[in-house]
Amino acid sequence: MAVNSSQTEPGLSLRMEGFEAPATIAMSMRARELAAQGKDVISLALGQPDFFTPRVACDAAYEAALEGKTKYTPIDGVLALKQAVQKKFKLENGLDYALDEIMVANGAKQILFNALMATLNPGDEVIVPAPYWTSYPIMAKFLGGIPVDVMCSEENNFSLKAADLRKVITDKTKWLIINSPSNPTGAVWSKQDLLEIAEVLRDYPQIWVFADEIYEHLIFDGAVHYSLAALAPDLKDRILTANGASKTFAMPGWRVGYAGGPKRLVKAMTKIQSNSTSGASSISQAAATAALHHCAKDVEEMRQAYDRRRIMMKEAFSNMPGVICAVPQGAFYVYPGIKGCLGKISAGGRKIENDQDFAEALLEEHYVAVVPGHAFGLSPYLRISYAADDAVLEEACKRIAKFVESLQ
Ligand SMILES: Cc1ncc(COP(=O)(O)O)c(C=O)c1O
Repeated sequence: MAVNSSQTEPGLSLRMEGFEAPATIAMSMRARELAAQGKDVISLALGQPDFFTPRVACDAAYEAALEGKTKYTPIDGVLALKQAVQKKFKLENGLDYALDEIMVANGAKQILFNALMATLNPGDEVIVPAPYWTSYPIMAKFLGGIPVDVMCSEENNFSLKAADLRKVITDKTKWLIINSPSNPTGAVWSKQDLLEIAEVLRDYPQIWVFADEIYEHLIFDGAVHYSLAALAPDLKDRILTANGASKTFAMPGWRVGYAGGPKRLVKAMTKIQSNSTSGASSISQAAATAALHHCAKDVEEMRQAYDRRRIMMKEAFSNMPGVICAVPQGAFYVYPGIKGCLGKISAGGRKIENDQDFAEALLEEHYVAVVPGHAFGLSPYLRISYAADDAVLEEACKRIAKFVESLQ
């Protein structure tokens, strides 16, 4: 289901060879096509909150626009937002960053892009614990690096074990990317695991760490989120702590991400941004500033709704034959294993040999879009987003159950 690379298209650069749109987007595109044909499609393929952005953030954007805050912004972010981010890092993460160690971008995705572009030389390796957010390896490759997988198996609660990390480090390793709570598994890595990872990193001073904490507030069952830079302050000068407004405040379309990290890296990233997109949208930054200051209650209400849905999903999946679903402690995804469904035939005559076949058959026959685990580097699983209305999720689970039960 990946979108074809464009190596056959005249006029495009070599860089485009093998460059594919993430499978998450490919699945959504097919879902949209079916919907355009009049099918009643439910898409649980994309990772975005279904909630409206809190009112106070929308009001702040509106006021900013009316007040004429519509000019170009400073490349690294407007002062009020940077100060709000600084306060957030201090109070929520125990991290002290000076203002010149903080930058704002058009989403956490741009933070990642800037960071990799500022540091990667051809052939540098980027360790990406799998299953991973699809953009990590794609972006590393696009920018001349070599993504190196290290498996975080279900037996290890989808967490990175220090011994496994050590095995994949070479003298070419430039980055380790960590993402807890995780997209796609919802795993929340323990303090102990993070401390052990830090211990390994102490032996390799050339390695930067990208700590993607974008789901930090979507956390359940009393789990605790730890920032690596706070747990290992001696490593702070090579950790980039990335975050953003998209998930926490239901603001994906506003495009605001931010990071705290060493000044030399932030400065280089800012230089790249100044020559690509310039600063993030002025009114979006006003909205994000208000959200950081005033939306704790909204965040908690959304978290509780996700928690309710998470339990609903878990229960629905635990009754499906051939499907095994761990209870995720964070983010808004479940990552059920479907090993028990392989080798079977769907009612529509499709042979299910892998998770891609499963996801395609489910979409074509029951109109539910999910993403096959191979897109995230670990099969046979499915990533199912529960950032959707309760009634929609209930209907989706019914259809998935019907599909699974019909497999022969
Ligand atoms: C783990 C992870 N990091 C970063 C992002 C990108 O977030 P943003 O909308 O801030 O670019 C996503 C979005 O899906 C994500 O899942």
